Amino acid sequence: MRIPFGTISVTEKSKQLIIETLETNRLSSGKLVREFEKRFAELVGAKEAVAVSSGTDADMLAMAVLYDFGAERGDEIIVPALSFVATGNAVLAAGFTPVFVDVDRKTLNIDPAKIGNAITEKTRAIMPVHLMGKPADMDAINSIAKKYDLYVIEDAAEAHGALYRGKCAGTLGDIGAFSLYVAHIITTVEGGIITTDNEKFAEILRSLRSHGRACKCKSCVLNTSSAYCEKRFGNNGDGDIRFIFERIGFSSKMNEMEAAVGIGNLDIYHEILNKRRQNLYYLLEKIKQFGRHLVSIEKEPHEEIGPHALPIIVQEGSRVTRNHLVRHLEKSGIDTRDLFTSMPTQCRGFEFRGYRQGEFPNAEYLGKNGLHIGVHQDMGREECDYIIQVLNEFLEKSA
Ligand SMILES: Cc1ncc(COP(=O)(O)O)c(C=O)c1O
Repeated sequence: MRIPFGTISVTEKSKQLIIETLETNRLSSGKLVREFEKRFAELVGAKEAVAVSSGTDADMLAMAVLYDFGAERGDEIIVPALSFVATGNAVLAAGFTPVFVDVDRKTLNIDPAKIGNAITEKTRAIMPVHLMGKPADMDAINSIAKKYDLYVIEDAAEAHGALYRGKCAGTLGDIGAFSLYVAHIITTVEGGIITTDNEKFAEILRSLRSHGRACKCKSCVLNTSSAYCEKRFGNNGDGDIRFIFERIGFSSKMNEMEAAVGIGNLDIYHEILNKRRQNLYYLLEKIKQFGRHLVSIEKEPHEEIGPHALPIIVQEGSRVTRNHLVRHLEKSGIDTRDLFTSMPTQCRGFEFRGYRQGEFPNAEYLGKNGLHIGVHQDMGREECDYIIQVLNEFLEKSA
């Protein structure tokens, strides 16, 4: 049996929309992107959603909004030490300094008890990551943010469908940033989307994704028809607002074909989500039998986990190693991914920040001993049982 890490569902409607779009010759961001944004916002319960070209750009632009509210280049953003490296890269790409905080080994998420020590006069925001779709401890994080007057930007890249006290991930702080990469629950192939209830933030985000332009309407008439835009030259004689740049921007737009794939995914979202959640919760239950050697995350009563993937962590003191397990799974046809790395101490790119091995014991442990495998919608009970059988065989041989 072969179990790839991810899959992609491209619906008939998406294919049709792509063909129609190609025939119109209007391929850059236009009416399909607007439709996708509107429906995504409704789905998560946010007032606004702004589509961009990747989850990394979603993180980056969400942070760059803060320059309009007094942040300065080089100011600090607090992020968990353990995440996909894009989280840390995005902080730097936005012009900020990442300040890392260790994670909780059980939840994989930033440890709120350690955030206080990382706050300085330069701190502008906390960016929790809902790793593997498990919501971070948002009550604690929001209350720290309130106390120190910080923004909260959720990296919800892996948290489609995650619920925290009944609210969707991405709506629990000031801004939420999702990845729409192929392996994720809603995908546009490559892509990202930013959610917020703050209309001013959304306007700035629309400017930021298009080079910092003054042109930032929620519903742009350009590229949807050849309609004349009243606003373009109505700017007190200043000229074309498309060539007035209000802030340092990025080139991060989503295109119409990507939105077409995303719209099809939204049509079948609940089907995808339920299938993946059934797979994840089944595996979480079954994996408990291997508790002496392997553990995963636990679903707590106040939450639903966004079923992104199944994390597996080799227990301290076990004779098995992550690398042997990975080899066994891969040989058995089960695709694996490492459970990322401690960005500050296991990723060479962040050495310049001067952190030392041992400063992030939990992130480092998970970085060396964790992996994750798929729970996607093309899998069912048979694939899940096969995974458990392969894990069982491995432990019988190696433990
Ligand atoms: C936690 C996290 N943040 C950010 C990203 C970046 O998303 P993308 O690959 O769409 O740029 C990812 C990617 O999967 C991620 O897992």
